Amino acid sequence: MADELTRHDAGPHAATWWTDAVVYQVYLRSFRDGNGDGVGDIAGLRAGLDHLVGLGVDAIWINPWFRSPGLDGGYDVADHRDLDPDFGTLADADALLSEAHERGLRVLLDLVPNHTSSAHPWFQAALAAPADSDDRGRYYFRQGRGHDGDQPPNNWTSAFGGPAWSRVPTADGEPGQWYLHLFSSCQPDLDWTHADVAEDFRETLRFWFDRGVDGFRIDVAHGLHKHGDLPDLPVGHASAAPGHPFWDRDQVHDVYRDWRSLADAYDPPRVFLAEAVADTVERRARYVRDDELHGVFAFDLLEARWTASDLRDAIDRTVAAHGEVTAPPTWVLSNHDVLRHPSRYARDQALVTGHNLVDVVDLQRDDELGDARARAAVLLLLALPGNVVLYQGEELGLHEVEDLPDDLRRDPVWERSDHQDPGRDGCRVPLPWAGDAPPFAFTSDPTVATGQPARWRDHTVAAMDRDPTSTLHLYRSALRIRRAHPALGVGAMSWVPADDGVLALRREPGFACWINLTDHPVRRPAGRVLLRSTAQADNGPDDDVWLRPHEAVWIDDPDVAAPDPLGTNG
Ligand code: BGC
Repeated sequence: MADELTRHDAGPHAATWWTDAVVYQVYLRSFRDGNGDGVGDIAGLRAGLDHLVGLGVDAIWINPWFRSPGLDGGYDVADHRDLDPDFGTLADADALLSEAHERGLRVLLDLVPNHTSSAHPWFQAALAAPADSDDRGRYYFRQGRGHDGDQPPNNWTSAFGGPAWSRVPTADGEPGQWYLHLFSSCQPDLDWTHADVAEDFRETLRFWFDRGVDGFRIDVAHGLHKHGDLPDLPVGHASAAPGHPFWDRDQVHDVYRDWRSLADAYDPPRVFLAEAVADTVERRARYVRDDELHGVFAFDLLEARWTASDLRDAIDRTVAAHGEVTAPPTWVLSNHDVLRHPSRYARDQALVTGHNLVDVVDLQRDDELGDARARAAVLLLLALPGNVVLYQGEELGLHEVEDLPDDLRRDPVWERSDHQDPGRDGCRVPLPWAGDAPPFAFTSDPTVATGQPARWRDHTVAAMDRDPTSTLHLYRSALRIRRAHPALGVGAMSWVPADDGVLALRREPGFACWINLTDHPVRRPAGRVLLRSTAQADNGPDDDVWLRPHEAVWIDDPDVAAPDPLGTNG
């Protein structure tokens, strides 16, 4: 079916390749180990490229691979223009870029402009320099409040828990100034009003763009500028609401206009995808205005409960806000910071209060239900207008590893919460590639403790490749159809009236996605079935017009009219 269709996009060199792209997020440390030291690396990624080509993605985004103490998964960068030795060398990076490009895959890196590592030479120089020196001016060093300055300069708290300020000693060992870190204390915030900061990031962009990197994901894009007076955060101030002293301040947009013109000077132009959190979708869409960034994650689906009304609201909000600007939405269900979505969907959605493990850990799990919903969810995701980012391992149907041994937890959230919050390590467990037992060919060293559960023997790339009903085959089929079908990718969508608990959307020309979120069969329109989310060896003859419970289906040339009567199995 899908094989009859031809690729509809503008080809691998198109300047607008990203508008309908499917990007695969590579968490390098746990993707694949190529040198046998137990840590995922560039050699492993090179060895895994064929898996990604077979999957059918257009690009990869690699989490930070720069030199770093690795205290926050590499988001603590000590040198933006060198590789961390755990991952490889610049020569390895160059080899990866050319091998990816040869295979038609684009490569996005991850830029961390809000903060550096405390091991960065700038911060080390700042520590050695006196208060009010220029060296300290690249960060936020301030005197404390209270008696002897022993209280933090304001009441801001770290996103990882605890105060956002730490105090450093003076040269003679007395308690001295405080510095700001909106994340962990090993991640001091840069002061973007200092000219060196902007200039250094321009140099970093040019450094990687000159090597052939196709773009960047931008970490904490909403945080770069702070209110000049560093005022207390008023009690009850909503996160990122306008006027917030450190999130989503208007000045950040000047940075992105500057970067856009730098990226546009390349041929082909380089692209940016922002992680930006704002109070409203409209404010978030400001990051993708014409002269700013190309994409901004729409976290709305990742945050939505698996109910027809919540999903529909999330989609409508995002599509409407993006209609006001020219950039298509970037849809996502999971990433390295949140609970893997099959584990979220395995819970009673009425009880789910958030998208982190800590929010659901006490709720009962129905893994089969989670699997069914997750398989339906990817068909929804890939049917929406815009581009998509997949998180490594979702194509293997991986769940969160919720019972990771404590000694494998590295997330600063775990320590900063006094072990109350398990943090994000459960979605960062090494991928299973082949074999019957851990480490499932992730590494050649059988003694490495990976935290992979034994049940992942059925989730390896090799096992899923052998099983035509697997999640891997579902993803491959969906990506192949999405790439070829003229209705998918960018363009308009509309909702088709449907029963409660059913989502039905149309794309033109002639495509529909119907999703049954209920636990009983419902009617769907007649039309050629391109793909269904429920496991089966082939799609079989289109001999019924029923959607199974928790099933999604893609239909070619659907009847324009909704099925009549709508309703449950009669
Ligand atoms: C990244 C996290 C990281 C944080 C601080 C986030 O948005 O995705 O993994 O811990 O920024 O850099």
